[in-house]
Amino acid sequence: MTDILHLDKRQRAMLAEMGVRVWSPMSEAVVMGAPVVESLAVDTSASQPPEVVMQAHADEAHRFVAASALVAQAIPNPTKPAPVLIQRPEGIDQMDWSALHNTVSGCQACSLCGSRKNTVFGVGAPAAEGQAPQVDWLIVGEAPGENEDIQGEPFVGQAGKLLDNMLGAMKLSRTGARSPDGGGVYIANVLKCRPPGNRNPKPEEVAQCLPYLERQVALLQPKIILAMGRFAVQALLRDTVPDVETMPLGKLRGRVYTYQNLPVVVTYHPAYVLRNLPEKAKVWADLCLAMAHVKGSESA
Ligand code: URA
Repeated sequence: MTDILHLDKRQRAMLAEMGVRVWSPMSEAVVMGAPVVESLAVDTSASQPPEVVMQAHADEAHRFVAASALVAQAIPNPTKPAPVLIQRPEGIDQMDWSALHNTVSGCQACSLCGSRKNTVFGVGAPAAEGQAPQVDWLIVGEAPGENEDIQGEPFVGQAGKLLDNMLGAMKLSRTGARSPDGGGVYIANVLKCRPPGNRNPKPEEVAQCLPYLERQVALLQPKIILAMGRFAVQALLRDTVPDVETMPLGKLRGRVYTYQNLPVVVTYHPAYVLRNLPEKAKVWADLCLAMAHVKGSESA
């Protein structure tokens, strides 16, 4: 233990007599990896002449400042260095599924790469090695949350359970293969990395990440895209729906839009529905619209 006060036995005994305790801020210093220092605390309950107590206070303050400065010097800067950003490679719009997947896995195009545990490319029907799965449905959410970041898979938390139930109600599942009767689902997000603390995606993050979703859509060629929540809706419809940024989702529901010439149905995000359970009926209506569109496109 480092004793920056350099007190000998006699001085310590004297201070004790005066009601001045010598103490070590052990826990903090050890935890932070700093040298252990000692300081003084005055037991003001002890009956001392006021000038002794005042002096002890002054000494304590002075030494505490000195000790704190020492501790502060030894604490490494807790701010993580900013991640190195690297531009996305050219030619994302030409990539095949596995090249796209690899590119997303190594993406350092925005600062989210510094805080993510995993990229979250998407999940869906089984596919041949390196190929996009064959699906009727593409479901687009916002961004991975904490659990998704840990597991590297979209919608694995509570919102994901609701999404799985919604799929089940349509006789679909997140990993079921497309059968001759149809089906096959792929689930992806606008952002492939988790925004820290589950904050909203920033426009610059969406701008960096959107080419990945664009290419996923182009390769998947689903029969229907279900855009869940504000961020998915805005990302997919911003070039075709004027005022989409400011229009409430409730006003956008109930119509079929297009993205890359593929039909898009708008619905609420499952996390929103979990907080507003009566909206479930509206989501079911949106799913029925989407199912009718898939059926219609099959019979056309
Ligand atoms: N919310 C999303 O939008 N996506 C996820 O993957 C999880 C929660």
